[in-house]
Amino acid sequence: MTNESIAAILLAAGQGTRMKSAKPKVMHALAGRPMVLHLLDTVRSLDAAQSVVVTGPGMDEIASAVAPVPTVLQQDRLGTAHAVAQARPVLENFPGTVLVLYGDTPLITAATIRAMLDRRAQAPHPSVVVLGFRPKNGGEYGRLVFGANGLQAIVEYKDATPEQRQIPLCNSGVMAIEGKHLFSLIDKIGNDNAKGEFYLTDIVKLAVAQGLTASYVEAEEEELLGVNSRAELAEAEAVLQKRLRNNAMARGATLVDPASVTLSWDTVLGRDVTIGPSVVFGPGVTVADDVEIRPFCHLEGVTIAKGAQIGPFARLRPGAAIGEQAHIGNFVEIKKATVEAGAKVNHLTYIGDAKIGAKANIGAGTITCNYDGFGKYLTEIGAGAFVGSNSSLVAPVKIGDGAIVGAGSVITKDVAADALAVGRGTQMELPGWAERFRDKMKKR
Ligand code: UD1
Ligand code: CA
Repeated sequence: MTNESIAAILLAAGQGTRMKSAKPKVMHALAGRPMVLHLLDTVRSLDAAQSVVVTGPGMDEIASAVAPVPTVLQQDRLGTAHAVAQARPVLENFPGTVLVLYGDTPLITAATIRAMLDRRAQAPHPSVVVLGFRPKNGGEYGRLVFGANGLQAIVEYKDATPEQRQIPLCNSGVMAIEGKHLFSLIDKIGNDNAKGEFYLTDIVKLAVAQGLTASYVEAEEEELLGVNSRAELAEAEAVLQKRLRNNAMARGATLVDPASVTLSWDTVLGRDVTIGPSVVFGPGVTVADDVEIRPFCHLEGVTIAKGAQIGPFARLRPGAAIGEQAHIGNFVEIKKATVEAGAKVNHLTYIGDAKIGAKANIGAGTITCNYDGFGKYLTEIGAGAFVGSNSSLVAPVKIGDGAIVGAGSVITKDVAADALAVGRGTQMELPGWAERFRDKMKKR
């Protein structure tokens, strides 16, 4: 029974009014991607056979974000059981376990869900497994109520007696339910309660009433943090960042000041990578072994090969590919450009839409002039070329292998391999002119 197939229903029809946002709540990002996608990823890691997301009216954005996972619409928000009922067309008679997850509770781990599935697999094979937790400060959560035969019911806070409100074990909302009973139990749920809603929590007492059993598993409160406001979004971000940093360190990266490093959900750091303080990773960054990223760098959509050195204060934008042992220094911005092995771009430079050959040296203040207000053009710099400081390379343009560009040049034409190109005004000198000028000014 452990290998029973699983399906997941993600409830995401809540408006999220307290977010004060035009976006549906579950589309707010944690570590660079919408909450709902974090959950779907967790579910996918459990090899779920089918997932479905329950959305509310006007949330088409969710449908496109989760595709090809289907969404079903809950037209009126009549409660969590009513939300689950909307998944019937997708999951009726599902021959396995159906998980119910909340779209706004994205930090739940695969390990916790596995513990719930394991509980389903153990005798007496409970038809409902509830995920419970013990909130440090109480809170208006549903309470788990036990009888002689174990878990008997969940009582919503609003409907609970003063004694029941003292029960420390609360309902997180997450459940694992035997698929073949799910919708018949849901059909029996009414809305005669304090909120006038169809409570999914009633499924426990209904299951028990028809001779099925219910059980529970406990998780840490931190994992069940619900996001209802921007402040809670920031709390969830902090939890996720801590996990991502710990993962990176466990895989062999040094984070000099972990708390100051922001990672993305998909950041890949190799072994013996060193990340200095205050480095920010946007989505799509892959860093190979032995790379050093010095403080205050910002990276997004970048690959960095083995042994490269980046920063401090470098900005690597989407499409930058930094080769082995290459050096990218301070106040350098690189976008959509390949910097091949051993090349150096050390100071105050913009490289965009370019290819820089192996071991080329790009002087301070070099600018690729890649844009004319309409199109973007390519700059190609050959292997071993040397570009003098403060040069403007007006694309499209090619600098041949081994060529030298004199400092201060504006290069508008291709430069042949091993040639010297100087594109600047010739210097003139007027002997004694300065002294004569000063004399004249003093006499006025
Ligand atoms: C729910 C539980 C409560 C638990 C708490 C944990 C019920 C009846 N109560 O209460 O026992 O302690 O979560 O946070 O289940 N949703 C829909 N459609 C609806 C209603 C809700 O999609 O019609 C979604 C919401 O977007 C949200 C989730 O379900 O993601 C929970 O709904 P919410 O109204 O916050 O439930 P609580 O009252 O907090
Ligand atoms: Ca809630």
